[in-house]
Amino acid sequence: MAPRRKKIYEGKAKTLYEGPEPGTLVQYFKDDATAFNAQKKAVIEGKGVLNNRLSEYFMTGLTNIGVPNHFIKRLNMREQLIRQVEIVPLEVIVRNFAAGSIAKRLGLEEGTPLPRPIVEYSYKNDDLGDPLVPEEYIIAFGWASQQDLDDIVALALRVNDFLTGVFYAVGIKLIDFKIEIGRVWEGDFMRLLVADEISPDSCRLWDIKTGEKLDKDVFRRDLGNLTDAYTEVARRLGVMPTNTAQIKPTLIN
Ligand code: TMP
Ligand code: ASP
Repeated sequence: MAPRRKKIYEGKAKTLYEGPEPGTLVQYFKDDATAFNAQKKAVIEGKGVLNNRLSEYFMTGLTNIGVPNHFIKRLNMREQLIRQVEIVPLEVIVRNFAAGSIAKRLGLEEGTPLPRPIVEYSYKNDDLGDPLVPEEYIIAFGWASQQDLDDIVALALRVNDFLTGVFYAVGIKLIDFKIEIGRVWEGDFMRLLVADEISPDSCRLWDIKTGEKLDKDVFRRDLGNLTDAYTEVARRLGVMPTNTAQIKPTLIN
């Protein structure tokens, strides 16, 4: 057997390994699903394979329209080569329609259109349950500068426009999503890029006609089979081979 690569970091849904060259990492997509800060957990067969493909699809699309991101290439069914970045400790959330926590906080009906896309931030800290934080905290505690935040909002809105269009074309409404941002240094210059993943784990996706949920809320709220929902998203986007047997982990490990 080939020697195991050095593990750099293990998160809830992905593991990062040392990459083949300095400045690269291998991102492995697990089948683990968690919700409510891991109070709810399950292993969902095939989820990692789907998210690896879908994140490749969205990141490649972003590259094609000039939005910098960490993706280099997909290596196999569960792994992709990415640029090593320093993660900004924020979850950057963009909302087009009310759902989830904003609906609860403001007493809005889920699906209510928002007057404009709203960008908000959670501080990435599992012990605290990723609390929502204002810009004032982010700057005061040095998690990002005002210039970084301006760049982050610009990136987040470009990702929003791109994803909104891609999903609309296949009959899906992008309700909201979360991205993470990484820093890379090129000589003395620091650049920000889209990192982590873009997948139905980190978006809310509703069928435009029926309102059916095609994202992780299916798992959070026990609405049905998560793999079926993600497979439907992948099928509409033309991302997955039609032979769903290929997503069975037993066939690919
Ligand atoms: P929220 O309504 O629960 O705040 O979630 C907003 C969006 O962010 C939704 O698309 C789900 C996504 N999200 C994550 O990807 N990870 C998280 O830990 C949370 C809380 C939300
Ligand atoms: N990703 C978070 C968790 O693992 C929250 C969520 O997506 O609902 O618990």
